[in-house]
Amino acid sequence: MFLSLCWLLVAIAYEAEGLVANDFTKCSEVFYKEKMPVGFEGIAKPHDFKEIPDGIKTISDLASPAYICQTLGSKSYYATLYDRGRRIPLYSAYILDRKEAKEQTDCKRPGSFQLEPQLIYREVTENMQLTKETRPTITKYNKNNGISERDPKNQPTNLMKASQAIDEDYIETPPTTTKTPTSTTIKYQNKYGRGHLNPCGHHNDPQNYKSTFTLTNVVPMKSELNNDVWSKYEIEMITISAGCGKMYVVTGSVPGNNALKDRVTIPSYVWNAYCCVNNLGKPVKSGGAIAANDKELAPNKAFQVEKMELSDLQLKLKNLLNLSNNFEIFACDCKEIKGNKRCNSI
Ligand SMILES: *[C@@H]1O[C@H](CO)[C@@H](O)[C@H](O)[C@H]1NC(C)=O
Repeated sequence: MFLSLCWLLVAIAYEAEGLVANDFTKCSEVFYKEKMPVGFEGIAKPHDFKEIPDGIKTISDLASPAYICQTLGSKSYYATLYDRGRRIPLYSAYILDRKEAKEQTDCKRPGSFQLEPQLIYREVTENMQLTKETRPTITKYNKNNGISERDPKNQPTNLMKASQAIDEDYIETPPTTTKTPTSTTIKYQNKYGRGHLNPCGHHNDPQNYKSTFTLTNVVPMKSELNNDVWSKYEIEMITISAGCGKMYVVTGSVPGNNALKDRVTIPSYVWNAYCCVNNLGKPVKSGGAIAANDKELAPNKAFQVEKMELSDLQLKLKNLLNLSNNFEIFACDCKEIKGNKRCNSI
């Protein structure tokens, strides 16, 4: 009797915790050895809410980074460490499960990407939702909690915009149409697209594809990079995964010093790391790659993906991210643990 009462209390405490947890407990299976990367938390910038909405119960609900188990239809597909201050993911971690190394034609980009209602209020649905679904979700929460939407800071539109990147952030304002003497039309080019960290094309299940089209899984990526060498590398990764029992992938960003619309940080680099294990879960091979998201930073000033060993990638990232020694993407660097060798995360 006493024991079951204890369990009840634990269960209540857990409920009160809300859905955006303080770690990736609910989706730890996407990490090699179920260990999340070590050392990234300190990079995240704090939330920049101008006014705290009335629905925020404790300030810790706004903690940055946010740990998102990316969930659709109540099923969790991958994990994202989200920098709330910069409104970009620092990384997404997933298992690459597609076998065919070619473009996935089912991966059509929807016009609008999904949002993460949990970044507004922790206690609302764990599922990602489109803007048109998020709006009533928030209004319902406000109603149930006696929160007035007369105050602009509590209005769904403002809450969505304050808590995360939205589609409009990625739409560039066309240059003003002043006629130039030489050309009749000014070709308007979208310079930065919504670049996936976890790409649709690395998955087999249609729901899993869909879960990648969410704004917390994308960063402003130069279209020239995203549509060309980076997407080729993504296909190459499928080839790399051939023969792996499982391939664990972490793809991330190096936050730069500029932002879209003064809101969404443009990464200076995007990077990728993989850890391939056999059917017994033993590490077989690992590696990674990095690409500058700015031609000026790229070798020979051309977009390219530099492939490298995991250890070299880690060194490079440590410098670019100004990280301390305690930094590790995969537990024990995706190496077999022999004897009593120690590594950061185990
Ligand atoms: C790392 O340090 C450099 C130089 O101080 C700075 O420009 C850059 O923004 C820092 N990067 C991060 C991710 O903090």
